[in-house]
Amino acid sequence: MIVLAHLSDTHFDGSERNAERAARVLAYLNELPGPIDAVLVTGDIADHGLPAEYEEARKVLSSPHRMLFCPGNHDVRRPYREVLLGVSGGDEPANEVHRVGGAVVAMCDSSIPGQADGLLADETIAWLSTVLAQAPSDAPVFIAFHHPPAILHSPFIDRIRQHGADRLADLVRRHPQVVALLCGHAHTPAATTFAGRPLLVAPGVVSLLRLPWEHGPVLDYGPPPAVAFHILDDGWRLTTHYRVVT
Ligand SMILES: [Fe+2]
Ligand SMILES: [Fe+2]
Repeated sequence: MIVLAHLSDTHFDGSERNAERAARVLAYLNELPGPIDAVLVTGDIADHGLPAEYEEARKVLSSPHRMLFCPGNHDVRRPYREVLLGVSGGDEPANEVHRVGGAVVAMCDSSIPGQADGLLADETIAWLSTVLAQAPSDAPVFIAFHHPPAILHSPFIDRIRQHGADRLADLVRRHPQVVALLCGHAHTPAATTFAGRPLLVAPGVVSLLRLPWEHGPVLDYGPPPAVAFHILDDGWRLTTHYRVVT
């Protein structure tokens, strides 16, 4: 069994409010006895991509559990790499592959510098293709990124989703061991499918983006933060629980 905790969109901006919400989620996760194999944070970690925001994120997003990251449209690759991850690197896409338990977790960079919408760049598609080709056939694969590659019926986010997703869909269809795609960006706990696999959206730590027919502000800062737990059992059947952290 593999258990992944999944949070997204912490938007560290120097404010006490946003830092407190992320700290609350980490305190909740960190006190769990387990078994949590990794905690995934799928982007929009900083709000303006500033080094000081990543300094704060690095302190708050620390855990005895393994932490895995990918950037979002509010992140800036160079300080994201240097300050949050503590690795050198340039402005190229920040892609990372990890072994978690028996699974392969590909953390992909779907950001386009300076833009709100997303795309897996040519080099990211090539990298992911290699990751999938090299994954053992008995290893389940999770693919994570920031931007959902499918319409979620959330008009604001649908306009700035991950575009050009046909190449990703082709890759997923060719690799049956891809068990799920995980993303953020939409600031709503949601579940749909993409290329016949589950596409699971982590809630936004910082806010809730409401649907058009709901009451209340579209971007609602009132509700408490939330996280997802993805549980893959030995039969490769995936279950997701969403949990509000009060
Ligand atoms: Fe966000
Ligand atoms: Fe975003």
